[in-house]
Amino acid sequence: MGVLNKQASLSIMNTQVCVIGAGSSGITAAKTLKDHGISFDCFEKGSAVGGNWRYGNDNGMSSAYRSLHINTNRNVMAYSDYPMPTDYPMFPHHTQIATYFDAYVDHFGIRPFIQFQTAVKSVEPEGDHYRVLTESATGEVSEHVYKHLIVANGHHWNPRYPTPAFPGSFTGGILHSHYYRTPDQISGKKLLIVGIGNSAVDIACEAARLYGERVTISTRSGAYIIPNWLMSMPFDSLANPLTSKLPLSIQRLLLKSSLLLARGRQQTYGVPVPERPILSEHPTISQDLLNLSGRGLIRFKPNIADFNEHEVVFTDGSRDTFDMIIYATGYKVTFPFFAPEFINVEATNDLQLYRRVVHPDHSSLYFLGLVQPLGAIMPLAELQSKWVAKLIAGNCRLPSRETMIQSIETEDNKVRRRYNRSARHTLQVDFHPYWESIEREIRGH
Ligand SMILES: Cc1cc2nc3c(=O)[nH]c(=O)nc-3n(C[C@H](O)[C@H](O)[C@H](O)COP(=O)(O)OP(=O)(O)OC[C@H]3O[C@@H](n4cnc5c(N)ncnc54)[C@H](O)[C@@H]3O)c2cc1C
Ligand SMILES: NC(=O)c1ccc[n+]([C@@H]2O[C@H](COP(=O)([O-])OP(=O)(O)OC[C@H]3O[C@@H](n4cnc5c(N)ncnc54)[C@H](OP(=O)(O)O)[C@@H]3O)[C@@H](O)[C@H]2O)c1
Repeated sequence: MGVLNKQASLSIMNTQVCVIGAGSSGITAAKTLKDHGISFDCFEKGSAVGGNWRYGNDNGMSSAYRSLHINTNRNVMAYSDYPMPTDYPMFPHHTQIATYFDAYVDHFGIRPFIQFQTAVKSVEPEGDHYRVLTESATGEVSEHVYKHLIVANGHHWNPRYPTPAFPGSFTGGILHSHYYRTPDQISGKKLLIVGIGNSAVDIACEAARLYGERVTISTRSGAYIIPNWLMSMPFDSLANPLTSKLPLSIQRLLLKSSLLLARGRQQTYGVPVPERPILSEHPTISQDLLNLSGRGLIRFKPNIADFNEHEVVFTDGSRDTFDMIIYATGYKVTFPFFAPEFINVEATNDLQLYRRVVHPDHSSLYFLGLVQPLGAIMPLAELQSKWVAKLIAGNCRLPSRETMIQSIETEDNKVRRRYNRSARHTLQVDFHPYWESIEREIRGH
């Protein structure tokens, strides 16, 4: 193992790589390193694998609610060499996803390589190595030194609240969607949900469906709502390497026409449409929202202008009173183990990485799963792992720092041009083009 006491010299270090986290990104990194015969330690804060997908995870970080189902279909989400069971539904429940990750880990014999209930508390770069401090559940602190660091600590666990806060003060209940678990938390409450991402819409639909009470969604940007199923197919199976090569304007036209044919205009159901074109935001997926809105159970308001005790004033001048506000306003990308002067991007979520993996100034520092694909994260994290393993093994090379910086800027500009400027869109990638860019890295261009 790579455990050192403070006096030990680097020369006795024999474990090359530290992996932080055993969620869906960390376990595929561990599997890939094992496949390549690269020695590693994988530290997991909780007592099980699966991260976000373990409801009530004892790591205290999971955002899963009891009713959560995946919104990327099971075939798109599975790792390349381990399909999800065929008796799973197309959009399985979170318990099935957690079971799948457990089965993956056991099938490939990765579990013994994971040190559970061991949190990485700090990481300090030291020359071209990383000094890593871990703490076990019993309070045992250990120090380790590694040549390579793979960060797979997830990016959907530190709630982001509106900043600056809306003026005035709201004296009803306040909850971030991260803390939403079961409907009894909202039962009988007149609810205002802020945001129109997937968390907002899942919770709004659950509240409207269960209680038949009117729920209000406040949104500053709006969203095109995409159903889970489109023309008898899971919507995300419509994107493929061929369609992703079409000009964006054609992709937009195709998706817009399919939506029109499948269920008409969303305004007809009472759901407002954004001013910008479709595919300029992370997709909000719901089979139910339009129907529940059409029944008058979910209504929409623009952004919040002001609070006055239980009353909320909206930017169009309308006002209403509420018992509770749920901020479904997304998450901060957070690395609590790095000193803030080394890496801290919480304000913007904007970490500049080559191919969204490699730090251009620290070429042995890698981030896995730190992407927001139009598609699922898991297969991308798997491919990223294969690239990183080859880099570590010396079987492929990074371009110069200048080339990496240039590439980061180019990608960044594309994202800024296409997406609504918002912290939620800094990690956006198109699944297939991104996949191909990593494959090119693996092939050596
Ligand atoms: C409600 C919700 C639904 C989602 N649905 C989908 C979906 O349908 N499809 C999809 O592709 N994505 C979805 N996502 C995105 C989600 O981020 C990914 O599905 C997936 O969880 C990412 O895996 P990960 O391993 O990168 O992160 P996580 O699942 O967050 O795992 C990170 C792991 O790192 C560990 N860890 C963190 N810090 C430390 C530390 N300091 N020391 C040791 N261990 C540490 C944690 O304990 C955890 O096990 C959803 C996100 C949310 C919030
Ligand atoms: N069923 C599922 O599989 C499921 C369920 C939930 C979540 N998820 C995933 O989890 C991730 C996080 O989703 P999320 O919905 O929690 O967060 P999100 O995608 O970041 O959406 C946040 C929402 O809040 C709004 N918002 C943010 N700051 C605001 C502010 N200051 N004032 C007003 N509105 C503000 C955003 O609007 P702007 O666009 O204007 O910023 C956006 O509508 C996503 O990858 C999502 O796909 C999946």
